[in-house]
Amino acid sequence: MERQAVTARAGTNIALVKYWGKRDAALNLPAAGSLSLTLAELGTTTTVRFGADCAASDGGDTVILDGKVLAGKGRERVRRFLDLVRTRAVLALPAEVLSENTVPTAAGLASSASGFAALAVAASRAAGLELDETQLSELARRGSGSAARSIFGGFAEMSAGRDPDGGDAVARPLPRAEGWDVRLVVAVAAAGAKSIGSTEAMNRTAATSPYYGAWVESVERDLADARAAIEARDLGTLGPVVERSCMRMHASAMGADPFILYWNPTTLNAIQTVMTLRASGISVFFTIDAGPHVKALCRAVDAPAVEAALASTPGVLRTIVASPGPGARVVEEARP
Ligand code: PMV
Repeated sequence: MERQAVTARAGTNIALVKYWGKRDAALNLPAAGSLSLTLAELGTTTTVRFGADCAASDGGDTVILDGKVLAGKGRERVRRFLDLVRTRAVLALPAEVLSENTVPTAAGLASSASGFAALAVAASRAAGLELDETQLSELARRGSGSAARSIFGGFAEMSAGRDPDGGDAVARPLPRAEGWDVRLVVAVAAAGAKSIGSTEAMNRTAATSPYYGAWVESVERDLADARAAIEARDLGTLGPVVERSCMRMHASAMGADPFILYWNPTTLNAIQTVMTLRASGISVFFTIDAGPHVKALCRAVDAPAVEAALASTPGVLRTIVASPGPGARVVEEARP
């Protein structure tokens, strides 16, 4: 049967209260909640079509990322995800997936968040499924925990959930924050892929870091404080919560055995720049994900000054100013 090609676009998101650790590895259920901002400028556009003619030479799915045929583990991860969609849609056809990132892939700029959010939307629709946003969030989570949040625009909160099957481990938008004009200024601190993937790093942290339990216990309070600060649109209250969540996540990872250290000297230089800007009276706060890059949260009016300071920080390769963006959505449906 001839099936439609569906193109979806998703923005990446940056966690302000971090996700670091799983309560169930198979279902990709988080050990604690998290809270993030979905971005407009950085994201993924993905086209999916199911059809007998989509098969790769081995009969499986064809996956092309940024113009290159994906092989190995990356392809396996996409195939496993597509299997979830096929099972739900009772479909046995292979798929062709064409995906373009506007985020450097796997460099700690959260390409997996926008990647699996766009894939969830495009693949489910291409397979004939009609999923609502909550169902899409649950599906996207199976690909990458942070992807569940990119289904929604602006500020979104991911729940750890309690169900063993993960039906309640989904994100939801924080609607009262709509229209709050903040920016995330990204300071790119290295070229290339991150040193260790987030799943492996989370599992090692959980298994070996004496700080892991304390980290997980600390998240609930950070979520409540961040939620209240966002509702009040109070950057001066939100910022310290963002920084402590980031530092505690990294501290738990640094305490693993062998240790996990995502930072490089440029990371510390950029942290220092943010602290200096703050001492000069600018309301700006940093966060760092599973990579060396520093993301500075500030008001839109302060973004040019923050960007200039980060761009002239020793070691910073480039800067990107990102603003709040929409949730994952279908942008095109066409007959092949
Ligand atoms: O979605 P994953 O499995 O790539 O994990 C994301 C982990 C962090 O980016 C470090 C934190 C977060 O909440 O996004």
